[in-house]
Amino acid sequence: MKQDWKELDTPTLLLDKGILLKNILQMSEFAKRNNVNLRPHIKTHKSVEIAKLQLEHGALGITTAKLEEAEVMAAAGIKDILVAYPVSNPAKIERIIGLLDQGVDLKVTVDNLEQVKLLQKALEKTRHTLEVWIKVNSGLNRCGVEPGEDAVKLAQAILLLSRLRVGGIFTHAGHSYGAKGQEELERSAFAEADAVIKSAEACEKAGIPILVRSVGSTPTYQISGQVDGITEVRPGNAVFFDSIQVGLGVADKTECALTVLASVVGVYDGRVVLDTGSKTLCLDKGAHGLDSVKGFGFVVDHPELTIERLSEEHGVAVFESDCGLSLNDKVRIIPNHACTVANMFDEYVVVEGEQVVDRWKVDARGMRK
Ligand SMILES: Cc1ncc(COP(=O)(O)O)c(C=O)c1O
Repeated sequence: MKQDWKELDTPTLLLDKGILLKNILQMSEFAKRNNVNLRPHIKTHKSVEIAKLQLEHGALGITTAKLEEAEVMAAAGIKDILVAYPVSNPAKIERIIGLLDQGVDLKVTVDNLEQVKLLQKALEKTRHTLEVWIKVNSGLNRCGVEPGEDAVKLAQAILLLSRLRVGGIFTHAGHSYGAKGQEELERSAFAEADAVIKSAEACEKAGIPILVRSVGSTPTYQISGQVDGITEVRPGNAVFFDSIQVGLGVADKTECALTVLASVVGVYDGRVVLDTGSKTLCLDKGAHGLDSVKGFGFVVDHPELTIERLSEEHGVAVFESDCGLSLNDKVRIIPNHACTVANMFDEYVVVEGEQVVDRWKVDARGMRK
């Protein structure tokens, strides 16, 4: 039975299928044009259906942050997975072994000696060897060894361990989210590519071949992915885009595939209250230290509204000139951070124009381990 999204109860997560496919194609066409592999980060959508669409459209494999995300994707038959997060906890190492037992072509992040020794020790009790990718710090100052000699030292130490092999070097220029303008953004992108290439070349000089040289954040991958010597890009958010990307100038509102359908639950002097609070829209206003947006989401067709405050279940949107909204009216909101908002819902209601055409589970929502 045909259903119009305007008839849905709220809050509901709407996914525009046409825009989603365009965004997926934008990534795969970039990769094809620039002769690099594409390994999208699925922490944005957490959906088997969308991961499979990305693979059908040219992605080589996927990136996850969490082992649980990797487990969900592996159970759905996806085999080529990078866990882009340093794992050293024994309980988690057991789960790495579980994925290897299932025949997953798994790559795991390493960035310190103690961690690689723990991995080696656990793997010695199995029949497996594990491909590890060295994470280098390109300016985010989160995880990762410093590029160059520190990467070589770690690679040399891994070379001595029978159960580990170095498959690649990678980084994530998350600090690009704090860029004040295009010039600064480009600087982060070139630093991203540079950190990887410098480390890979230093390793090769020391006799350690580095086949995969991987970069990726949505604001930077189309710049760093063009640098000579880079072999792979890992955009995540670009599958949906969101108000933060619009605020950074990376995407246009018309490219945002994800919206939250909200209802007006109260109309007052100078403000309306929506049924989308922090439990739905989340509190993000930017990433890594910079607010790149105004308010807690952009209300489609109502630029006069600013979602000024959120409590758990209420979103207070203020206006100066009348917004024309009445009780029970519905609006769509482009979330500030699509990845965290998707994590709040059980399913995507997939729409084409005004019509609901499908419902897809957010399979790996809430997976923290
Ligand atoms: C290691 C790694 N790679 C890729 C990404 C994707 O970044 P974005 O969502 O900006 O595309 C992330 C995001 O956190 C990441 O941590």
